[in-house]
Amino acid sequence: MSVESVQYLPGKQPHARERRLTFRNVDRAGFDPSIECYLRDGGYEQLHKAVTMERQAIINEVKASGLRGRGGAGFPTGVKWGFIPPTNTKPVYLICNADESEPGTFKDRYIMHQDPHQLVEGMVISCFAVKASLAYIYIREEFPEAAKILEKALDEARAKNFLGKNILGSGYDLEIYIHRGAGAYICGEETGLIESLEGKRPYPRIKPPYFPAALGLYMCPTIVNNVESLCHVKHIIAMGGAEYAKLGTPNNTGTRILCVSGDVQRPGYFEVEVGKVTMGEVINDMCGGMKSGRTLKAIIPGGSSAKVLRADEKFKLKDGRELGIMDIPMDFDTMAACGSMAGSGGVIIMDDSRSMSWVLNNLNAFYAHESCGQCTPCREGSLWMKKISDRIVAGNASPSDVDELERLANNIEGRTICAFGEACSWPTQSFVQKFREEMKAGTKSEIEDRIVAGETELAAAGLVG
Ligand SMILES: Cc1cc2nc3c(=O)[nH]c(=O)nc-3n(C[C@H](O)[C@H](O)[C@H](O)COP(=O)(O)O)c2cc1C
Ligand code: SF4
Repeated sequence: MSVESVQYLPGKQPHARERRLTFRNVDRAGFDPSIECYLRDGGYEQLHKAVTMERQAIINEVKASGLRGRGGAGFPTGVKWGFIPPTNTKPVYLICNADESEPGTFKDRYIMHQDPHQLVEGMVISCFAVKASLAYIYIREEFPEAAKILEKALDEARAKNFLGKNILGSGYDLEIYIHRGAGAYICGEETGLIESLEGKRPYPRIKPPYFPAALGLYMCPTIVNNVESLCHVKHIIAMGGAEYAKLGTPNNTGTRILCVSGDVQRPGYFEVEVGKVTMGEVINDMCGGMKSGRTLKAIIPGGSSAKVLRADEKFKLKDGRELGIMDIPMDFDTMAACGSMAGSGGVIIMDDSRSMSWVLNNLNAFYAHESCGQCTPCREGSLWMKKISDRIVAGNASPSDVDELERLANNIEGRTICAFGEACSWPTQSFVQKFREEMKAGTKSEIEDRIVAGETELAAAGLVG
């Protein structure tokens, strides 16, 4: 059935600029999470096809597709799969990262709630390709309903022999278990997740040597992929890697889901070809523009860890082009060239009513709460930054506190075990660099200076004695 013939629920029609693959069945009229419904729609056909293929051929298709991980780092999925040592004799594991903990991101949950078999099919094909006989879905504690839906989907898949022993007569055995986290952002970081799955505190491991594809779960090769990434595998098998790579733009292939929140008329999720729509099209066409009477002030383009972009910035690219914020194509490489990242696809829009000190304080409170505490710069620094931004918001800070914030962030970045160090320092660095004057204007001596200046003016005008 073509995407065009698919009917969606009233008010949930995808935008004309969308190209739905992984979200094809989200909000679809008459579609439910049962296996019967999925099978009626051609479900598990790609698994039938995949188990007849050579494993390396599947990996080659994924490599040819150019798929880059949708969990945050944008690392090429096929390349990651190829990192499993060829001489490996240990068990191989696959973990689906369903932690979806990056603030501003809300996509994986819709797939798990509304189309769980798409994920199961994508996982079974992926496990077959990398020779994993045991896989886990690590799901955050806050998604109890999704965990139940997935449990049911796994039971249904087992009953139809899409899972379990001798899958579809291929001789291949696979079991998938759901593991519910206890609710911690750091469990989304793949090595913290692995520690948690092993029953320990989720202290991230240092890389190298603990790259999961070589030394992962129980020190065995482990592939960790995001929910959305694993769903794409099914579509790559259906289309072929080369055809899939025609979607999107070079080096930024396929589709991805953008989760838009904040000060726009119609926030929501949109699956688009990577790099085929600009930020301006997302805001103005897909989200109906800014809230009435308001203007754009800033955007966090890829989840809360991504560096903020100012509405009036100009971004100079290596090829000589200069882009305004509305001209940025929504892809991994251009967003990085503009000094931020496409990350997890969470686009947070802020208008001129927002206090940047308040926004940063909110982010700092989150990171200070979520640091696992293993490394001193992150543990102490994230809390210190939060305390300073508390003071700024309360109007009790001095102007030098704003510069101190930046100094602290610079001393966290690059000095920690895991990328949480960057995740917590990039917001502070970018907010201070781009909104320093606004943040200083709220500090104590600046406030006092303004009162004095105001009184002097009034006195000069003979209005006060
Ligand atoms: C602090 C932190 C939190 C993360 N949270 C998530 C998450 O919630 N979901 C996710 O898929 N990846 C998350 N990641 C990225 C994972 O470590 C890993 O790169 C990803 O799951 C790999 O899947 P992909 O290649 O399919 O993107 C996080 C990374 C960091 C540093
Ligand atoms: S950077 Fe932060 S979250 Fe990551 S290991 Fe160190 S203390 Fe833990």
